[in-house]
Amino acid sequence: MDFSEILQRRTIRFFEQRPVPESAFRQLIDAARRASCGANTQQLRYQVIRDPELVAAIFPFTAYAARVKPGRDPIPGKTAPPAFIAVLATPPDRKTLHADAGAAIQSIEFAAWNLGIGCCWIGAFQEPEVRRVLALPDDRLLLYLVAVGYPAEQPVMEDIPENGNVAYYLDEARVLHVPKFTVDAITTWR
Ligand SMILES: Cc1cc2nc3c(=O)[nH]c(=O)nc-3n(C[C@H](O)[C@H](O)[C@H](O)COP(=O)(O)O)c2cc1C
Repeated sequence: MDFSEILQRRTIRFFEQRPVPESAFRQLIDAARRASCGANTQQLRYQVIRDPELVAAIFPFTAYAARVKPGRDPIPGKTAPPAFIAVLATPPDRKTLHADAGAAIQSIEFAAWNLGIGCCWIGAFQEPEVRRVLALPDDRLLLYLVAVGYPAEQPVMEDIPENGNVAYYLDEARVLHVPKFTVDAITTWR
């Protein structure tokens, strides 16, 4: 896949009910470890969660597409994510840590898309409950979850002008539309 196709990436929230192989996860984590990172401190750590019982135990504590709720709520056994990556960090919680995680997760998303795999970056999760399910030690920070699996939906992007509405929406065919500002809408030249 060339880079212009990888840039077509969309967040995926409905997944096929088949596992992603370990070799693919290794490529995703390999992409993450290569990402830019403040002062190259490399505090991020990853848990690949594929065990069906663990995945099912985490799922109820994750939230999806609040703007179209419940239109993109995955359904266990039908469209729910088959795996998660937990993005962890070793303390201290430095100023760049969430930026580091952002760079790493974006790399994961692009690497996944290149393999025909979709991701949903999840910030809306119930941290105490997920920590309990994963039995995380107190000295591990839990920054984000990423749902990972083969896409069972095809969201589309659309260009919007400077005064456009950024709210993503479902059309009559239940396709998710994701508005994005055009280059001209968000850029000044000096
Ligand atoms: C920091 C961050 C947190 C997010 N948290 C969630 C989430 O909890 N649940 C969800 O369904 N999507 C979540 N998303 C995905 C965004 O909703 C999605 O990126 C946005 O709607 C644009 O869609 P796109 O990724 O297809 O461009 C998150 C994205 C980011 C960057």
